[in-house]
Parts: sequence; structure tokens; C-alpha cells
Amino acid sequence: MVRRVAILANGGDVSGFNAVIRAIVKSAEKYGVECYGFVEGYKGLLNNDYIKLSTSGNNRASGILPKGGSIIGSSTNANVFHYKTEENGEVVYRDFSDICVENIRNDGFDCLFTLGGDGTQKSARDFSLKGINVIGVPKTIDNDVACTEVTFGYNTAVSVASDALDRLHTTGETHHRIMVLEVMGRYAGWIALESAISGGADIALIPEIPYDIDKVVEKVNQRRSLGKNFSIVVVAEGAAPLGGQLSVVETRDNGEGVDNTKLGGAGEKVAKILQERTGMESRCTVLGYMQRGGTPTAYDRVLSTKYGAKAMELAIEGKFNVLTVIKDGKLDSVSLEDVVGQNKEIGAVSGNTAESNIRKVTMDHDLVKTARSIGICLGD
Ligand code: F6P
Repeated sequence: MVRRVAILANGGDVSGFNAVIRAIVKSAEKYGVECYGFVEGYKGLLNNDYIKLSTSGNNRASGILPKGGSIIGSSTNANVFHYKTEENGEVVYRDFSDICVENIRNDGFDCLFTLGGDGTQKSARDFSLKGINVIGVPKTIDNDVACTEVTFGYNTAVSVASDALDRLHTTGETHHRIMVLEVMGRYAGWIALESAISGGADIALIPEIPYDIDKVVEKVNQRRSLGKNFSIVVVAEGAAPLGGQLSVVETRDNGEGVDNTKLGGAGEKVAKILQERTGMESRCTVLGYMQRGGTPTAYDRVLSTKYGAKAMELAIEGKFNVLTVIKDGKLDSVSLEDVVGQNKEIGAVSGNTAESNIRKVTMDHDLVKTARSIGICLGD
């Protein structure tokens, strides 16, 4: 019997966090279940810092559907199974997961909802192995969580990128330039690919296809020969040239922890080389955090609400240790074990690593086929 539940939002924020929180709280109230939110994701769980969420009384979970960010915050790099801390002036990593388990038990939470990406769900699975009832909800603008066709936040990011491409089109055409747009996507090129199609780009470079710069130059020149004196290029931050390296601006925590590299520069690299090779002026725009902030699209509001309501329904049915997913276009759930992939060992690695089960763009996907059909160059 579920009477008291807690939500945590973890990892990089996306538009739609609040819409999921609101849907969980509203559904919980329908079932007479009390709802709480840990402040700043797993960090809040470790510090036992939580607040009451309701649509009446404190009203925190009311009026938040269109709001960006997260009313309960979120934290990045907070893997409580491998937590960065300081001891005697030295940085060390400790497993604090048992403190979290104790907090959940002492607070009397019957279920923990974990809103997050790959790393968050890996930790959620690890908590389930320690006897905690968890239900995950897949979040990330990168759309790369395993076992679901779409994550909340992704559609908003694509929409922002698509709008940026419309704007780059008019200025690029006016000044006969190559306009490069760098979008997010560490290991998967979903945003780049889909926004290239919706924004009418000529070239899309994604992490899954190491690009051959000769092919990209060829595409620009081919357009020029047709009298088109501008080109629009979308570059995922994780795109790399054939035989080349990822563009990394910074390595955090000496390579320790989750997502220990900060990517950047992939778009600038492409713009520079295209200018050299084609003689056309090239400009790069980095869309960055614009893709994560602000109000969610109508699609993301609906998807987030569906995910939140489903998560609560699963809790009422007593179906724990699962992730809400969209499968064949329908709401469903899968075992967190399937989501974790090869990251089986408890606390070993948490998210966005070679061992994790990231959902990448596959070459037989409709988006790839469509892009190729209409002549978008994918750098191969
Ligand atoms: O995982 C989502 C994401 O948006 C990545 O595409 C990007 O590399 C990363 O977050 C950046 O996050 P932050 O700078 O907040 O660590």
C-alpha cells in the first residue's frame, strides 16, 4: 500500500521537469497519497532535504505546467554511490548510498520517483537492489535513454534548435555564408538530426557517423554550383571527424565521476575548416543551454504529464523498479534492469559511459532515411 512518496529530479535540467512533478502530485492526490520532493536530486536524498508538494495548501505544485527548470531543483554529478567529498583537504569518492536508504526508510517513503537520464536511472536501479521501491521517468534533451522512444525535454530542445535554424537561414542567405549551429548531444545525434530536418538544414553531423570533411565540402560546393550561395550545417557537440577526436573544452574532477568531460568546439571546428576549404565566410552559433531552459512545447507538456500519471499509476499497482517508457507509440514500463544495460555492477559506473546502454541513432531509423532521401549530407 503506497501512502507517502517522494520525487527527485536529477541531472541536467530540461523543459518538462515541472510538468512531470505536477502530474505525479495531482495523481497522488487523487489516490490520497502524500507527496514530497527531495531538493536538488540525489544530493537532497543524501542530505535528507525534502519539501511537501501539493496543489493546495502550500500550492507548490500548482501553476507550474509551463514553467522551465525544476521547482525542486536538480543536481548534476551527484552519484551517491561514488560521491565526491573532501577528507583532510583531499578529494575522495565515497559510497553514501546506505545513508540514502536509511533516510528513505526513516522518512517512511513507500516509493521514490527518479526523474532523470541514464546515470540517474542507473542509481535508481542500484537503490532497487538495496530494497527501495523506485519508479524512473526518462528525462534528457539528448533523447538517449535506453528502452524508450522518447524522453521528456527532447521535443522542446528540437523546437528551439529548429527555430534557431530558421533564423540562421535568413542571415546566412543574406550574407552568402555557411552558418553552423552547434547543438547538444554528447553520444547521440537525435537533436541534430531531427532539427536538421525540421529546420531545413543541408548538412547534419552526428556522433554516430564520424564525418568525412571532404563530403561536407562537396555538399557546400554542389549547392554553390546550383546558385545557392549559403549553406546551413547542424553539428552535434559530440560529432567528430573520421579518425579524429571529440571536441573537449574541459575535463572535470580529473576524469572522475559522471560526465567528466565538458564538450565544446565541435561546431567551431567545422566552421573554420569549411571557411578554409570553400573560401566562403563561415559563422558558428552555439545554442547551448537555450535548449534546456524555458517553457516546454505542448508535446513535452503532454508527454511529461503522461509519464507522471503513469508513474503514479504504477506505484498504486505496486509495480516498482521500472522505468516509464513510450514503446510503439504507447505508454508502458520496462524493468530498470533492462535500462542499465551492461552497467550491472552496483555503483560501478553511473551513466553516459561506454558501458552504459545509451540509445543512439541507428542507421535504419526513419530520421536517417528521411534525411538521406531529401539530400541532407550526414558527412559520409
Ligand atoms: O545530457 C544532457 C546535456 O545537455 C548534454 O548534451 C550536454 O553535454 C550536457 O548536458 C551539459 O551539461 P552540464 O554543462 O550541465 O554538465
